[in-house]
Amino acid sequence: VIDRAIRPLQLADYIGQPVVREQMELFIQAAKGRGEALDHVLIFGPPGLGKTTLANIIANEMGVQVKSTSGPVLEKAGDLAAMLTNLEAGDVLFVDEIHRLSPVVEEILYPAMEDYQLDIMIGDGPAARSIKLDLPPFTLVGATTRAGMLTNPLRDRFGIVQRLEFYSVPDLAIIVGRSAQILGMHLDADGALEVAKRSRGTPRIANRLLRRVRDFAEVRSQGVITQSVADQALNLLNVDEQGFDHMDRRLLLAMIDKFDGGPVGIDSLAAAISEERHTIEDVLEPFLIQQGFITRTPRGRMLTRHAYQHFGLNVPGRLGDPT
Ligand code: ADE
Repeated sequence: VIDRAIRPLQLADYIGQPVVREQMELFIQAAKGRGEALDHVLIFGPPGLGKTTLANIIANEMGVQVKSTSGPVLEKAGDLAAMLTNLEAGDVLFVDEIHRLSPVVEEILYPAMEDYQLDIMIGDGPAARSIKLDLPPFTLVGATTRAGMLTNPLRDRFGIVQRLEFYSVPDLAIIVGRSAQILGMHLDADGALEVAKRSRGTPRIANRLLRRVRDFAEVRSQGVITQSVADQALNLLNVDEQGFDHMDRRLLLAMIDKFDGGPVGIDSLAAAISEERHTIEDVLEPFLIQQGFITRTPRGRMLTRHAYQHFGLNVPGRLGDPT
C-alpha cells in the first residue's frame, strides 16, 4: 500500500492540531458560503507534520483541484507563469519549500496573489514587451519549515497563517492505529502507543516506523503486534525510548563531549557532527528543543539536565539540582 492511501482526505479525519483544524473548518465554510476562493494559506512547521497533507485536504474540502510544485523547481519566471495560467477558478496552487523561491519568481507571485494578475516580460532587448494577464481567483498554499525564512512582503500576502505543532503521543497512536487498519495489520493499543512514543512527535516518522515494525513482525513473530514486538523492532532500528535516533544522539553526545554542554554556536556544532547547519535547524533540533533537551540562548545552543540524564551521566552542577 502506497503512502497516499494512508493520508487523510478530510479535516474530519485529520488527527490532532486542534487549533488549525477549527480555524480551517471555519475559513473554508465561510469561503464556500461566499462562493469565493479561500484566502492564501501559509503552513509552517518541522518536516513530516502534514503540511502537504493539509494542502490536499484544503483543496478537497473546497472541492477544487490542487496543482503542486516547490520553490527550488520554479527556477524562472516562466515556470511559475506556466503553473498560474494552468489554474482553474478556485484551484489550490501548492508551493512546498516556498522560502526557496528566487527573487524574480517571487516578484511574479506578488501581483498574482494580490490581484490575480500575471505581469510578465517576454523576450529581451528592444523587442521585449510586458504583458498582463488576468488569472482566475485561486488559493496559494505555501509550506515552509520556518516562517522566519520568508521575506516580509511574501509573508504579508498570506491571509491565513497556520503553524503545525509536534503531535502528542495519544494523537500519534490514533494515527498509527488508523494506518495499521488501512495496511491490514494487527496492532494492539499498547503496540500503537509504543510506536507513537518513539516517533519524535511526527506522523511521517510514525508511519515509517510502523512499516518497519510490520516487517519485523512478519519475519520474527506471528500475529498481533504487541508492545513487546514493537519494542524489539524499534530497538533493532536504533530508535531509543525517547524516540531519538542515531542522529539525535550524535548531536547530543557531541554537545556533551566536545562543547561541555554548550553554549555552542550552530556552525561549530554543524562542523563537529559533519552535518548541514540547516539540517540541524530544521530537522534535528526542533524536537530536541520541544522536548526540553536543548535550549537556544543568545550565545548558542545549550544542553539541559535531561540530556545528561538520558545518557545516565552526572548532571553538571551549574545546571542545578538533578531532579
Ligand atoms: N497523517 C499525517 N498527518 C496526519 C494527521 N494529522 N491525521 C491523520 N493522519 C495523518
